[in-house]
Amino acid sequence: MKVPDIIIAIDGYSSTGKSTFAKLISKDFGFLYLDSGALYRGVTLFALESGFIKDGDIDLERLIPALDGLDIHFEDGSKTYMGQRCIESEIRTLEVSGSVSPIAAIPQVRCYVDKKLREFGEKGRIVMDGRDIGTTVFPNAQLKIFMVADDNVRAQRRYDEMVAKGETPDFEEVLKNLKERDHIDSTRETSPLRQAEDAFVMDNSDMTLHEETVWMRGILQGRFGILDPRA
Ligand code: CDP
Repeated sequence: MKVPDIIIAIDGYSSTGKSTFAKLISKDFGFLYLDSGALYRGVTLFALESGFIKDGDIDLERLIPALDGLDIHFEDGSKTYMGQRCIESEIRTLEVSGSVSPIAAIPQVRCYVDKKLREFGEKGRIVMDGRDIGTTVFPNAQLKIFMVADDNVRAQRRYDEMVAKGETPDFEEVLKNLKERDHIDSTRETSPLRQAEDAFVMDNSDMTLHEETVWMRGILQGRFGILDPRA
C-alpha cells in the first residue's frame, strides 16, 4: 500500500536532527523534502549582505519593503536559491545562525515565508521541517512530529557538522547559539515554537538513524495501516 498524498510536518528545537530525519523519511516514502528554516536563513543572508543588520539592530524600514522583490526559492529538489545564485552553504554559517531568530520573529518575514511554504504544500506528498509547520503553516497536516533532544547532544551534532565542513567552531559558542535561538523561537509573539497537540514526540538523544526509521514506520503502520511505504 502506498502512503497517501499527505503532508508530514516536523517541528522541534534547533539541531534536534529534524532535517536529517525529514530527508530520511522523504526518501523512504518517495516524498519531497522542504526545509522551511532555509527560507528564514535566506532572508537573513539577504539582510546581512544588504547592510540591513548592524550591530544586531535590524533596519525594519528598509528590510520590510525589500521583501516584495526578494526571490528566495528551492531548485533541484531542495536546494536554496536567491535569484539565480545557490546559497545553500552561505546560509549555514554561524553568522547567519546568529541573526536568523530575530529575523524570523518579524511578522512580515513570517508572512513572506508562510506564503511560499503553503504554495509548495498544495499538492501534498511533502515532508517539511521547521518550528511552526504543524501549528501555523499546515495545522491540518495529517502527520505531525515534534523532535526534542538533550542540549549537549544537539550542540555536539551541530559542532561535528561544522567541523566536517572544515570550519573551526568553539563548542561553547555553538551551544550558546542553540540556547539563544530556542529561547527567541519559543517566546516570540508570532507563531512561537510549540508542540502541536496532535504531534507525536520523538526524543532522539540516543537514537540511531535506523531506529528513527523503525519508529516512523511504526507510526505509519498504526496510523494508516501501511507496513511498507514503498510497496
Ligand atoms: O539550525 P536548525 O536547523 O535547527 O534551524 P533551521 O531549521 O535552519 O532554522 C533556523 C531558524 O529559523 C530557527 O532558529 C528559527 O528562528 C527560524 N525558523 C522559524 O522561525 N520557523 C520555521 N518554520 C523554521 C525556522
